[in-house]
Amino acid sequence: MFDLYNNAYGNYASEPYRQVRMETYGQDFGQTSWVTTEESQEIPQLLGLHPDSSVLEIGCGSGGYALHLAETIGCQIVGLDINEPGIRSAQELARTRGLASRARFEQCDVSKNLPFDDLTFDAAFSNDVLCHVPGRLDLLAEIFRVLKPAGRTLFSDALVIGGMISAEEIGTRSSIGFYCYSPPGENERLLDQAGFSHLRAMDTTENAARISKKWHDAREKRKNQLMTAEGSATFEGLQRFLSCVHTLTSERRLLRYLYVATKAS
Ligand SMILES: C[S@@+](CC[C@H](N)C(=O)[O-])C[C@H]1O[C@@H](n2cnc3c(N)ncnc32)[C@H](O)[C@@H]1O
Repeated sequence: MFDLYNNAYGNYASEPYRQVRMETYGQDFGQTSWVTTEESQEIPQLLGLHPDSSVLEIGCGSGGYALHLAETIGCQIVGLDINEPGIRSAQELARTRGLASRARFEQCDVSKNLPFDDLTFDAAFSNDVLCHVPGRLDLLAEIFRVLKPAGRTLFSDALVIGGMISAEEIGTRSSIGFYCYSPPGENERLLDQAGFSHLRAMDTTENAARISKKWHDAREKRKNQLMTAEGSATFEGLQRFLSCVHTLTSERRLLRYLYVATKAS
């Protein structure tokens, strides 16, 4: 296993990591995902967010995007992530940016029940996280439970099978942690089974192909500094992971979809 998230979040404030994010995404939200800046800009609209919204982000990492929403929309947001350095960094950023009254972050394993009452949120979203979580139907049912009537959910899944993939490719693609691959149509079926309706699925495979290449190349340019921080085996392992994501998505053997659904009122 190669440790992407502890390295990314533990080194969040370090200059080469900031430069890699800027070069990869164009805007720095502390991302470790395949979300382009265009997609980041569309999410508030897809979720129907407004200043009175109460929002849940599942797998918020170091919190940059949640803080951006709290700042630009003015909504209340809670971010959950299993990663301790990520949550510590998110809490620190909320304090230093004066957003702690609107944005709260908690370390939480979302494969367990969500720590909220029924009908708490107007919207719940998750960028490239559900593939890491065992028990997707249970998690979708939990999201349904904590949403208010007419609440919306949005999540992306970059591990929808699109074609032939070798065991070696599956190994490299899975080399940073637990992963669950799904056949086309499975997320729609699970959303439906969890109670959601008005489903939309958008093919965003091209975004993953583009981001993985930019991320790989931005890291390669700073190889010496990143090797010092991560160690050479981890640096090379993460580079192979990013190359593999690029190959599989640009050849459409792995697909990424963005799903939006509603809890009917
Ligand atoms: C691909 S990253 C995406 C992070 C962020 N959403 C972004 O767009 O940059 C996946 C995130 O899921 C988190 N994660 C993985 N398993 C989790 C779990 N069981 N509970 C909560 N978070 C989890 C990881 O720590 C990581 O921050």
